Amino acid sequence: MKHFINLKDIPSKDLRKIITDAKKRKILRKKLNILEVDKGAPLKGKLLIQMFEKSSLRTRLSFYLAIKQLGGSTLTLRPDELHLSKGAESIEDTAKILSNFGNAFMLRTDSDKKLEEFKKYLSIPIINGLSPSSHATQVLSDIFTVEEIKKKPISKLDISWIGDANNVLNSLIAASIKFSFRLNIGCPKNYQPDKKILHYINKNHNKISIYGNAIKAAAGADVIFSDKVISMNDKVNKIKKLNHFKKFKIDKKLMKHAKKDCIFLHCLPRGKEVDEKVFSSKQSKVWKQAINRVHVQKSILLYCFGKLR
Ligand code: CP
Ligand code: NVA
Repeated sequence: MKHFINLKDIPSKDLRKIITDAKKRKILRKKLNILEVDKGAPLKGKLLIQMFEKSSLRTRLSFYLAIKQLGGSTLTLRPDELHLSKGAESIEDTAKILSNFGNAFMLRTDSDKKLEEFKKYLSIPIINGLSPSSHATQVLSDIFTVEEIKKKPISKLDISWIGDANNVLNSLIAASIKFSFRLNIGCPKNYQPDKKILHYINKNHNKISIYGNAIKAAAGADVIFSDKVISMNDKVNKIKKLNHFKKFKIDKKLMKHAKKDCIFLHCLPRGKEVDEKVFSSKQSKVWKQAINRVHVQKSILLYCFGKLR
């Protein structure tokens, strides 16, 4: 049994194994309908319990399809219906019940500490479906999408991030270290990664640069990533923050600084950080990026269950 919380804590060879498995599984499913089960139904009879303490469309749907396609099933709990959310039951007892009733737990939460607490008391795998510090399942899937489109290992590509230093970027930074790819980050000076992340970057041999300038960060990129300037539960002065990001909008002019065949990726939902002309252009691969989460999360589930081929 393995947990899947932060990319930085998972060995590179395991992350690569997940991607390789997802590639094989995606090819094998070409002729199957969305709810048809993969050959061998490797997670037959298994129940994934999901809980979202914050909004979700893609993560919810992709985990639903992922476990179904592996032969298992899913149940989504509403946090407001649990005793836990009212302070009327402990994480320890909740975790024990989840472990007895289900086979894996996927949690989207506003507290990294809560993930760690659950991990302590669960005897089934826990998967981080987004937390303040990480969006690991998203980013691993994005590595898959980049390699699928570019037909090259990501280590041979120049990746740029233009946007806020948030959970998705933190996971991209960890991915850059794990998969050894160049990552140029462009964000306003006051919104750069925090001290803990900078320490993690400096401690590890890496190819990461941070610029207070979007053009510098986009120069020569094979892929430009972005995300909302204001994340869920971001407790900031929104107008002020959006103003600070004005020069970091991804428009056609900025894309010209990247390679000619540069692609644009965004985990979605989007805000105003990307111009409609880029978002709806041929360079934008956001819909493929979203559906690929099903494929990669299947292999993440198999990894957690100790069933990766
Ligand atoms: N990208 C992503 O995680 O989307 P949701 O918030 O809709 O799950
Ligand atoms: N950074 C965003 C990602 C949403 C999928 C957020 O945390 O709201």
